[in-house]
Amino acid sequence: FSLLVLNGPNLNLLGTRQPEVYGRQTLDDIAEMCRATADELGVELDFRQSNHEGELITWIQQARNLNDGLILNPAALTHTSVGLLDALLAAELPTIEVHLSNLHQREDFRRHSFTAQAALGVIAGLGAEGYRLALIALTRHLAGQIA
Ligand code: DQA
Repeated sequence: FSLLVLNGPNLNLLGTRQPEVYGRQTLDDIAEMCRATADELGVELDFRQSNHEGELITWIQQARNLNDGLILNPAALTHTSVGLLDALLAAELPTIEVHLSNLHQREDFRRHSFTAQAALGVIAGLGAEGYRLALIALTRHLAGQIA
């Protein structure tokens, strides 16, 4: 399988950005961990980040023909973007939404996710480990081993 991992705005700052909330791992560290996990699972991985909503939307549109599944941390766009939700609904790709932090422990406005409506499942609050778990679950889903 070919899996795409997309990261939204400000996630390029991981490591120095509110480490008490998001941890000390950089996005490169997370990408490396995802690549190692993908190798173990025998799946192809494309790992990207953008600060631009439109770029993320374009990548999701292209993923429809390029990838079998999507892991998405929409970051702040989680809570604002009908455009991302519409792109996900159009792409019809199995998608797992990941958040490093536990959204339910934070400000009220982080409790609502537009994008989660299009997701198979959501993982939040487990830090970078959430990406690993999402890769495993998405691969098992694509292989028909879990619903
Ligand atoms: C986040 C949570 C969002 O509320 C926030 O805007 C982010 C990161 C997370 O991974 O915990 O940028 O998606």
